[in-house]
Amino acid sequence: ALVSLRQLLDHAAEHDYALPAFNVNNMEQMLAIMAAADATQSPVIMQASRGARAFANDIVLSHLIRAAIELYPHIPVCMHQDHGNAPATCLSAITNGFSSVMMDGSLKADGKTPTTFEENVAVTAKVVEMAHLVGVSVEGEIGHLGSLETLRGEAEDGHGFEGALSREQLLTDPEEAAKFVRLTGVDALAVAIGTSHGAYKFTRKPDGEILAIDRLREIHARLPDTHLVMHGSSSVPQDLQDIINAHGGEIAPTWGVPVEEIQQGIRYGVRKVNVDTDLRLALTGAIRTVFAKHPGEFDPRKYLAPGIEAMSAVCRDRFEQFGSVGHA
Ligand code: G3H
Ligand code: 13P
Ligand code: ZN
Repeated sequence: ALVSLRQLLDHAAEHDYALPAFNVNNMEQMLAIMAAADATQSPVIMQASRGARAFANDIVLSHLIRAAIELYPHIPVCMHQDHGNAPATCLSAITNGFSSVMMDGSLKADGKTPTTFEENVAVTAKVVEMAHLVGVSVEGEIGHLGSLETLRGEAEDGHGFEGALSREQLLTDPEEAAKFVRLTGVDALAVAIGTSHGAYKFTRKPDGEILAIDRLREIHARLPDTHLVMHGSSSVPQDLQDIINAHGGEIAPTWGVPVEEIQQGIRYGVRKVNVDTDLRLALTGAIRTVFAKHPGEFDPRKYLAPGIEAMSAVCRDRFEQFGSVGHA
């Protein structure tokens, strides 16, 4: 059944677990996530970015989710808009049947310039007012995702705005987070603790210097009843990097967010963990393997079926590690 994010995360908080939120762009990702959820009896959060909606088409995407629910009627599914950047995006997600939206008001429409606290509150509160009228949940974001390594001058090329911000400006301030939740009424709060999107998060295994898990403890202490969300939380497993690189790919050495750090975050109130990159790596590795071993193969099913299985294995692992098994 289609359920709201609030319903899923309230249950997760009550039972001390978190849910991975997997990004979906196509049928193969949907089938992989649902098969893993069925195997582990876990609830599901599937999320579509603006890019996913443009790629797959809103009508196709909404029917894809309906198909998931019809295939597995016993699994609760939340369909979430990932990184909505304007009220209009959130509204069109709702009219397409999404049960949850993220209003990411931390950046201006250009996706680069940080907004002021007041601007973020105003746009997020507007979406909350609208979404709650129809039972749709809202995730907000306070702070700025981005690598702390760029601040330390360790990364080769600081990209985006991170280089211009101090550590404190990048990380979520607990007091500001508390004020934000009070003023907006969001159901879940994305916080910045040093993670970033994509495969290249850290140039070494992250420690407390570059991955501020402790900041979650401070935010949770201030906001014990707010569901926290970790973005940029792919683990970028070495074995998936190796599979790609062994079959003609070129993934430069990199580190993601270790699963044990996420598990620590779950103790500090993290209930939704966004994972996109890991499924991209799994699918790419499986396809590359087939292409390398069978250069004559051209039936898409022959490389997409192993791709589904490789993605599903990642999903099963995350459901297990985040503690959602048996909670469907
Ligand atoms: O926000 C980042 C997610 O990984 C979605 O990425 O915008 O390329 O679909 P995307
Ligand atoms: P990753 O790139 O780490 O998978 O993060 C995805 C994400 O945060 C989507 O909002
Ligand atoms: Zn994100």
